[in-house]
Amino acid sequence: MLVSGGAGYIGTHTCVALIEAGYDVVVVDNFSNSEASAIKGVEQITGRDIAFEQVDTCDIEALRGVFLRHEFDTVIHFAAFKAVGESVAEPLKYYMNNLTSFMNVCALMKEYGRPNILFSSSATVYGEPDALPVTEQSPRQPATSPYGNTKQMCEDILRDCCHAYDGVDGIALRYFNPIGAHPSALIGELPRGVPNNLVPFITQTAAGIRECLSIFGSDYPTADGTCLRDYIDVVDLAEAHVAAINRMVGGKMEEKYEIFNIGTGRPVSVLELVNTFERVNGLKLNYKMAPRRTGDVCSVWADTSLANSELGWKARRSLDETLASAWAWEKHVRNI
Ligand code: UD1
Repeated sequence: MLVSGGAGYIGTHTCVALIEAGYDVVVVDNFSNSEASAIKGVEQITGRDIAFEQVDTCDIEALRGVFLRHEFDTVIHFAAFKAVGESVAEPLKYYMNNLTSFMNVCALMKEYGRPNILFSSSATVYGEPDALPVTEQSPRQPATSPYGNTKQMCEDILRDCCHAYDGVDGIALRYFNPIGAHPSALIGELPRGVPNNLVPFITQTAAGIRECLSIFGSDYPTADGTCLRDYIDVVDLAEAHVAAINRMVGGKMEEKYEIFNIGTGRPVSVLELVNTFERVNGLKLNYKMAPRRTGDVCSVWADTSLANSELGWKARRSLDETLASAWAWEKHVRNI
């Protein structure tokens, strides 16, 4: 199958899970936010050579070449920009890239009669929910960033293509907060510059690269005053893709377009996450309470019963092991 953005954080972990499940993968990536070493990591873990094409999925003719050179009937589309703050500052960069690349993929899937499209969506589509946990039926809220808007727009594009075209089926997986790394510590998240996300900031602080973690907001209406999120181990998340692909290629979809929440179903506060990181890794983290971050929601976590029952998938890894894997990866990257 084709994996666009397969050199990225979630893409690499998903390639490993797909190969372990017996699927062949072709990775297309332009390394805009990843490195060739990530592909090497996948090869080391799986003991397989990865078919790789360095192509920008926004370049439809280059992407057509990939379709002509490789046989596959399924695409998993990860390739996208994902920095929320940057998307507010440079909306056109996000709309051009994230929408063009996805529409190119959909157009070529249709043109070449390749039926199965899996799209990486996000819990960001739920915004600040009225009721928790969120189910797939919970209303989407107006996006608060161009990044979030591209997730909603790509969901709509996929839904409309599935309904309009006989030969196209789609699944959107709405990820909650993916964290951690493969237990081998050979692949993981490689943020460029100052991390926006919590766990990379924590591990870089523990490694001495950042001086101090700011906890954004301690006055939220939660038990300890910090935000609640649903942190899912990236290997569990990767396995959810395999389950979704099994459903598609096994002809088990009930609708032409389906959506699944992919989370643990358990809310964890920022403070609880920081304390757990300190405990499992036996270290003290330099952190301070700071003002709220603009655009953050207070609480969001998943109702995962649909994915549990329909995909036969469940997040299995504990927060302890996930945060140990995150630190093991940071130490590997920094040679600590
Ligand atoms: C963010 C994006 C979301 C995107 C997801 C991808 C925003 C507003 N949302 O989700 O659209 O899909 O990343 O992974 O950016 N925190 C700190 N200190 C930090 C960093 C984060 O306290 O240095 C807190 C945040 O306030 C939040 C929690 O940690 O409560 C998680 O933050 P983060 O990892 O950035 O994820 P989200 O904001 O949930």
